[in-house]
Amino acid sequence: MKVLVATDKPFAPVAIEGIRREVEVAGFSLALLEKYSSKEQLLEAVADAEALIIRSDLIDAEVIAAAPKLKIVVRAGAGYDNVDLDAASKAGVCVMNTPGQNSNAVAELVFGLLVFAFRNFYNGSSGFELKGKRIGIHAYGNVGRNVARIAKGFGMEVAAYDAFCPAASIEADGVKALPSAEELYASCDVVSLHIPATEQTKKSIGKILLEKMPKGAVLVNTARKEVIDEEALLLFMKERPDFKYLTDILPANDAAMQEAGKGRYFSTPKKMGAQTAEANINAGIAAAQQIVDFLKNGNESFRVN
Ligand SMILES: NC(=O)c1ccc[n+]([C@@H]2O[C@H](COP(=O)([O-])OP(=O)(O)OC[C@H]3O[C@@H](n4cnc5c(N)ncnc54)[C@H](O)[C@@H]3O)[C@@H](O)[C@H]2O)c1
Repeated sequence: MKVLVATDKPFAPVAIEGIRREVEVAGFSLALLEKYSSKEQLLEAVADAEALIIRSDLIDAEVIAAAPKLKIVVRAGAGYDNVDLDAASKAGVCVMNTPGQNSNAVAELVFGLLVFAFRNFYNGSSGFELKGKRIGIHAYGNVGRNVARIAKGFGMEVAAYDAFCPAASIEADGVKALPSAEELYASCDVVSLHIPATEQTKKSIGKILLEKMPKGAVLVNTARKEVIDEEALLLFMKERPDFKYLTDILPANDAAMQEAGKGRYFSTPKKMGAQTAEANINAGIAAAQQIVDFLKNGNESFRVN
């Protein structure tokens, strides 16, 4: 059985070593397609693959159709909006992600961005401290929980809203559970965004929620750019000179945002949230282990389609 690692942006060599160990000990063979330069290369490589490990690589209906032996695709990471789930389901292909493996890395970046902004992007002027401020966590999943843990270390007050996670489970962590996104945005100095990009959440962060934010509020987005109504955000940036926006996902209108939000806007040039050695290794090895467990034992625990 061939397990293919197809990554435009490769794993660290030490992660590949770990993946190889998991796959070969199970008696399967590992093939690598790294830094591929065309979709044709990907289509060719998947032709005889039974299992596929990917990162942010686009797996659309054409790729699925080119892989007649494919049984499973694992996205080494949390979001899986780069995989066409309908096409996979129709072809009988199981799709999984590796939840939780990169969440500490993303959560640490949230605070890197926040300290940077609270200290006026290190421009030499006097800034503010996080201690005593109220942070609102929008979606209390794997990343959100890590943000809560670290926020407490900073001495912040922590609140959260999640559409599906029970309030009792949020409160059990010593975090105030709020009943709506509106209340979260209205009552927090900082909102940290961790909702997935779904049909329901796309462009859901716009005028209505932004206008609820108090004076001096900061929105930090390490989730997806698709969840933001970018036009509404740009307008809000112009209307509210006290508001700051920090993101790990370069907006399509970055140039206009830079212009409108001078000294109040920052985007990492490339998505950095999961870019740590630890997250890379954890997610890669988890993907390999999930594939082995699926192919040998039929374990579908992390199935998303
Ligand atoms: N910047 C990066 O490199 C990076 C890395 C990892 C994850 N991410 C993004 O962060 C997101 C969160 O990651 P995670 O690991 O915490 O995912 P997760 O699946 O563990 O948590 C997502 C949470 O969102 C909640 N949710 C779903 N729809 C909602 C809605 N409409 N309103 C409120 N809550 C809702 C779910 O109940 C769940 O608790 C991912 O979907 C991904 O897009 C980015």
